[in-house]
Amino acid sequence: MGRVRINGAKNSALKLMAAALLCDEPLVLTNMPDLADTRFMAHLLGHLGVEVERSDPAQMTLCARALGAPFAPYDLVRKMRATFNVLGPLLARHGQARVSLPGGCAIGARPVDLHLKALEAMGAQIRLEEGYAVAEAPKGLHGAQISFPFVSVGATEHAMLAAVLARGETVLDNAAREPEIADLAHCLIAMGAKIEGVGTARMVITGVSRLGGTTHAVVADRIEAGTYALAVAATSGDVLIENCVPGHLGALWDRMRAIGVQVEPQGDTCVRILQSQERCSAADMETQAYPGFPTDLQAQFMAVLCRAKGASIIRETIFENRFMHAPELSRLGADITVHGREAVVRGVSELHGAPVMATDLRASVSLVIAGLAAKGQTEVNRVYHLDRGFEGLERKLSALGADIERVSGAS
Ligand code: EPZ
Repeated sequence: MGRVRINGAKNSALKLMAAALLCDEPLVLTNMPDLADTRFMAHLLGHLGVEVERSDPAQMTLCARALGAPFAPYDLVRKMRATFNVLGPLLARHGQARVSLPGGCAIGARPVDLHLKALEAMGAQIRLEEGYAVAEAPKGLHGAQISFPFVSVGATEHAMLAAVLARGETVLDNAAREPEIADLAHCLIAMGAKIEGVGTARMVITGVSRLGGTTHAVVADRIEAGTYALAVAATSGDVLIENCVPGHLGALWDRMRAIGVQVEPQGDTCVRILQSQERCSAADMETQAYPGFPTDLQAQFMAVLCRAKGASIIRETIFENRFMHAPELSRLGADITVHGREAVVRGVSELHGAPVMATDLRASVSLVIAGLAAKGQTEVNRVYHLDRGFEGLERKLSALGADIERVSGAS
């Protein structure tokens, strides 16, 4: 049986890093993943005046003792949407900020209207000017009743980051419930914030006048854990996934069991994945906000279904353009038809290696998974996408017996 150790979650780390802007004492983050995205966020925070220290790759200390101008330029925001979440903390701390709008990305338009509406409800005056959100809260932010029309991870986190220092009570209804949101809440509470309803769709935040530093361990990356689980399913392996939270992946385990994979959680931090059949069965799947099946594992699940015995339907409900991996998987011999937000995957008995092109982070790892399951050699181009979210992917997969090598491209 192979073993693989999971890192801290990228999508939690990025928002925790933004939380450092809320106080003038050090925030020490442990179990930090070392990724292109966390380095990029550190770069932006450094630009804003935050002292960032990384003595150990898994630990980052951020101290926003003396902030500079609250200005996040286009070049430091456009590459990664999570950077936009500095707007709320900057407003809370400075009363004003100018942050570039992030723009769309390969998986969809991804507007930030809900983020802006939440901040406006808290008293911010925001105008959009030459691609920037220019925000002011001359009298400070105040509590508000915010009911999100649909679930948004980023907007929920953004509202939390602003509400913790706002005057009075903020109620967030229809809030996202992803484990990364609870992780952010726990860190903010340790910094002195008052948040009730953590992990539910209704959070009540009572603003405090100041927050202090703390040490916080980033929650395990459920998407990284799920990705290795699906790589095992695609290649008929037997692997113990360590340092994860199996309880965060209930919807994935349900679908993996439906296709015939054995999933055995072992305590609170490990899960054994065993696939003894050469091909899995087919099963339908639909992405949903947590606790549903994560959109960030849709591409990897599709890669597994490519060799299933039978046809499966995948429905993507979160992003409007998240099937760009389908034509690339087809280059390996997969039989996939996409109709709008639905993809029909008719399992084939064999995939064959070919050169393919990665289009985004999760799509790129789905091509790696399919490449491992294919006969012959697969060459994945634009692998820099992988470095945004998977620390040491080749090293970890090689240790599990995969034949994988980085030929070129940054790591
Ligand atoms: C987060 O993105 C993650 N990113 C994504 O992971 C993840 O796929 C997504 O949540 C869903 O789980 C980070 O945490 C950094 P949303 P986010 O706001 O916050 C629409 C990865 O591969 N929307 O929940 O941007 C939006 O367009 C990435 O690691 C609005 O219309 O996701 C989407 O259709 C990719 N207006 C839907 O809501 C808004 O103001 C859900 O997006 C905000 C969002």
